[in-house]
Amino acid sequence: VKAVTAPALLAMRAAGNKIAMLTCYDASFAALMDRCGVEVLLIGDSLGMVCAGYPSTLPVTVADVAYHTASVARGNKTALVLADMPFGSYTTPQAAHDNAVKLMQAGAQMVKIEGGAWLAETVRFLTERGIPVCAHVGLTPQFVHQLGGYKVQGKTDATAGQLKSDALALQAAGAALIVIEAVPASLGKEVTELLHIPTIGIGAGPDCSGQVLVMHDMLGVFPGRKARFVKNFMDGQSNIEGAVSAYVAAVKDGSFPSQEHCF
Ligand code: KIV
Ligand code: NA
Repeated sequence: VKAVTAPALLAMRAAGNKIAMLTCYDASFAALMDRCGVEVLLIGDSLGMVCAGYPSTLPVTVADVAYHTASVARGNKTALVLADMPFGSYTTPQAAHDNAVKLMQAGAQMVKIEGGAWLAETVRFLTERGIPVCAHVGLTPQFVHQLGGYKVQGKTDATAGQLKSDALALQAAGAALIVIEAVPASLGKEVTELLHIPTIGIGAGPDCSGQVLVMHDMLGVFPGRKARFVKNFMDGQSNIEGAVSAYVAAVKDGSFPSQEHCF
């Protein structure tokens, strides 16, 4: 099996082949997910909530993400390894670069940052220096205190328009990929049609170029509140490999997300 690369993801989007992404934090799950055909393993800063038990992603450090990224990279063979840049680690392009280098040296092949057009300069700075970037728009959990909770974004014409112009600016700056979280399905579709880079939805409807879920959510392990966009893929399965394979199949054939998981 050929290794998944950033250009390969662009080619999948162009061919209309859906991309399956899951969060992953350790070597054993990395090996399992890679075997099941997950194309992108995201070392999400959600690790602060699902692994470390923090109430938000804010306490997560670059060293935390680097540790989990190295673990995932050791277990993985072919999937693309994408590492989240944690809260406060990309305040300036130079700081973003210095921290991204640590994650790339730990085994990441791409880094993800949360925010809109204000990050365009940072996206350009990183990509010009060989660090592929995934942008993250819509509900950006590092902004929870500013947003006033984990709420659906882009529900008004003004905020939807802002999200579209943010996505275009991030693409123009060189973003390789863009995660869209918790927006109306119609907006997920519009943004996807507007861009040529792949969009990865989480609560952004079935028309994105791919989907992502937190592994603890799709395995029904996380004890916290279950978001509308979460589906427990362990239902009807007798083991984790079955659940991950069912997720990959449902993303590929477009049956996940269905209406009940969308806004
Ligand atoms: O940290 C994370 O798990 C994420 C995904 C939910 C996209 O950023
Ligand atoms: Na994240």
